Amino acid sequence: MKSPAGLLLSGIELDRANSIPLYRQLYLQIRKQILSGRIQGGVRLPSTRTLSKELSLSRITILNAFDQLIAEGFLASRTGAGTYVGTEWESRGIADDESQRQPPRLSDLSQSVLSLRSHHFQGVSYADWAPGSPTSFLPSHSTYDAFPQPVWKRLMNRHLHKPTKAMLGYGELQGLQALRTAIAEYVFDARGIDCSAEQVVIVSGAQQAFNLLGMLLLNPQDPVWMEDPGHIAARIALQAQGAQVVPLRIDDQGIDIQQGLAQCPDARLVFTTPSRQHPLGITMSYARRQALIDWAAHHQSWIIEDDCDSEFRYSGRLLPALYAMDQWARVIYVGTFSKVLFPSLRLGYVILPHSLIEPFCTLRAVMDRSPPTLLQAVTADFMCEGHFLGHIRRLRTLYQARQQALVEQLQQQLGGFFTITPVEAGMHLIAWLPPELDDDAIAKALARHNIHTYALSDYCLEHVLPPALLIGFAGTPENQAQERVEALAQALREMGYLQPAT
Ligand SMILES: Cc1ncc(COP(=O)(O)O)c(C=O)c1O
Repeated sequence: MKSPAGLLLSGIELDRANSIPLYRQLYLQIRKQILSGRIQGGVRLPSTRTLSKELSLSRITILNAFDQLIAEGFLASRTGAGTYVGTEWESRGIADDESQRQPPRLSDLSQSVLSLRSHHFQGVSYADWAPGSPTSFLPSHSTYDAFPQPVWKRLMNRHLHKPTKAMLGYGELQGLQALRTAIAEYVFDARGIDCSAEQVVIVSGAQQAFNLLGMLLLNPQDPVWMEDPGHIAARIALQAQGAQVVPLRIDDQGIDIQQGLAQCPDARLVFTTPSRQHPLGITMSYARRQALIDWAAHHQSWIIEDDCDSEFRYSGRLLPALYAMDQWARVIYVGTFSKVLFPSLRLGYVILPHSLIEPFCTLRAVMDRSPPTLLQAVTADFMCEGHFLGHIRRLRTLYQARQQALVEQLQQQLGGFFTITPVEAGMHLIAWLPPELDDDAIAKALARHNIHTYALSDYCLEHVLPPALLIGFAGTPENQAQERVEALAQALREMGYLQPAT
């Protein structure tokens, strides 16, 4: 059995090249040993002199670490008798087994530990968004190389230079007035929406809007029409609020309202992506839009219109938003800056019918208030000073060229394997696979080759579609298209889906 001193010392590894100060590394490691039960309460620690010698640290460094541990109750110092681990840490079991040290996974926790609604989140993958992860063909990822950094930096500096009281305080609950005004003007010109700045509420991205709207509008078991295939994260957000999802198929005009009327005419809400159906890319026809609004007005149901990337339309007509056609105040419009600016900005907006402004803002106050005022102010300036529209125009041209280059390469190198139809709008195309193949298995196997795509079947609930991969083009510069498609073709060969190259 090792002595307590030996145990403590054997568990400490200091990294002198690390930017974390040595006293803090020591503090963190002793604390970890106490918390894990490796060093038990009541145990006397080696003297600072011994530690200083064994660890080649100055005594000041050790005393600094000890002071913090004493202040936090991990250690106690007895005059003349040395330093001890606090007695309240006695009888802690030693968590030596690896499985005990790993944080439990959501799926390993029993329902008695988590809320009933938490099972909706099982299987949701957040790894794709980890910093530094490859984004090769992930839909909705850009390279951000066209982002006007100098302008953004100048606007940031303007506000950072002399932060006002308003900038540092809680900020307006609905969001910064200047940004709401800029958004109201923008959606009037770009989406035909006639609303006042009072109807605009700033949120931390569209996803937060879906969560808040679900919380505000749904009772447990309320039926909700969802597009099938459709936006996964929005579905989960609404299901977590107790929604009973009614999956409606997509035809060449958009969501199939007839199916909804036949199966569940009094759904409480419909979630839809009319300007570019997510993920199939279909534009909802004018007639279908009118029918959806009529249904909602008749049944007093709500329509959530997710309009996340209508800016990226390359051909075909961009119809006005559903919100712009609605005379009955049933549509709630959700927009985001994630696609046109960048997703880590976490700024989105909701345009509400008048009746929902107050209840939505009350909920907002309870959840988290509004996003950082600084970022809202910079975004408002970016819009008001004319950078926003120019940026959108440049991105549209850039993404159109990127799609064309990628389609050419996919057709040239993989035309016999994929059937590709260029999309009129959005940031990803759909590559249809031979019907006998399993898109999910292929997407997973490609990911092991560091090639990231999504399987269409992941987006489907009841309606089975032919297998396909969603291939993002916004993140592939034209001059890299050939090489990236070569890598994709090579991976497919190694996986046995293609003949070896001759
Ligand atoms: C269809 C669709 N809607 C909404 C969003 C939400 O974006 P955010 O929460 O970043 O604003 C996304 C994100 O990728 C999306 O694909």
